[in-house]
Amino acid sequence: MTDRRFLRVLAGERLDPPPIWLMRQAGRYLPEYRHTRAQANGFLDLCYTPALAREVTLQPIRRYAFDAAILFSDILVLPHALGQAVWFVEGEGPRLEPIRDEAGLLALKPGESGGSLAPVLETVADLRATLPHEVALIGFAGAPWTVACYMVAGGGSKDFVAVRTLAASEPDFFRALIDLLVEETIGYLAAQVEAGADALQLFDSWAGSLAEDGFDDWVIRPTRRIVEGLRTRGVDVPIIGFPRGGAALLERFIVETGVDAVSGDVACPLSALAAVQPRVAVQGNLDPAVVVAGGTRLDAAVDRIVGGLRDGPHVFNLGHGVVPQTPPDHVARLVDRVRNTSA
Ligand code: CP3
Repeated sequence: MTDRRFLRVLAGERLDPPPIWLMRQAGRYLPEYRHTRAQANGFLDLCYTPALAREVTLQPIRRYAFDAAILFSDILVLPHALGQAVWFVEGEGPRLEPIRDEAGLLALKPGESGGSLAPVLETVADLRATLPHEVALIGFAGAPWTVACYMVAGGGSKDFVAVRTLAASEPDFFRALIDLLVEETIGYLAAQVEAGADALQLFDSWAGSLAEDGFDDWVIRPTRRIVEGLRTRGVDVPIIGFPRGGAALLERFIVETGVDAVSGDVACPLSALAAVQPRVAVQGNLDPAVVVAGGTRLDAAVDRIVGGLRDGPHVFNLGHGVVPQTPPDHVARLVDRVRNTSA
């Protein structure tokens, strides 16, 4: 049995206090991140420079001694590796040269992603060699639906209605795009595990924008194929699903995809997370805004989550990423509260 507390919980153990890590634990809220970020030639360069990516991955571990580190990278390095133009506009977010038809799809270079993602895999190997033994290393990728949203829209959107329209009106094109992403994601995640990742998380940030049939086709099915594909290749590390906004279909997501754990978003009721704990470990689900607010309201929200999920395997986390305006002291208070609230 592993002595990494995070992995013990993913394997089904109940630990008190729960292990903790936070989505976007590395990022702009930390002055040391902003300092390292300024040394890189843009955000993608930060992701592709192993010495810098390793440094920013380790920063929150040094400060807060989290139980898990998450590889510093982005879900959009995969489309970038496929040959799609991807860039980040300071203060705005990602931009991509949109792909909306067969010709755009044919211009992608599947199967060659190993080459340009080599620096990311080098970062994983460096990290596993550097991290304290007891700290687990999480590798990740975007789930196909969410990555396709950015690839087709060409950037962020409040509802990705243009992408949902295309998925409904050109299902053959859209299925071909999703199929390609399934295959590439399997190869990319298997390579991360080979390089040293101890667990994997699939981020499906826009799962909640879909109707039930779309959720089946574009969230559940591709996720199941990725889980099966990894298992067929002999990858046996735990896989965490994060179908953000999919609380109403959480039970079915778990049963039908075969994931080992799920991350709950801010709107997911604690009772819904507790209800699935007999099957899988759960992560969640503090509102990042409450961390910004801080103080006794933060303490109360932490206590409610720790109390509500204590009867099963639970990893403390947020319901979405740490936001840039978060005071680092509030994160310290949160970690202390989780670790010192005993059963
Ligand atoms: O600490 C970690 O969580 C690991 C690194 C990580 C990043 N992005 C770093 C990042 C992870 C796991 C992601 C995942 C990611 N990226 C998702 C899924 C999770 C989610 O947040 O919903 C999505 C949708 C993306 C795409 C993306 N990358 C967007 C929309 C943006 C712009 C928004 C923003 O916060 O600026 C990014 C940029 C990004 N990715 C930053 C970081 C730290 C900020 C970039 C900067 O330093 O300027």
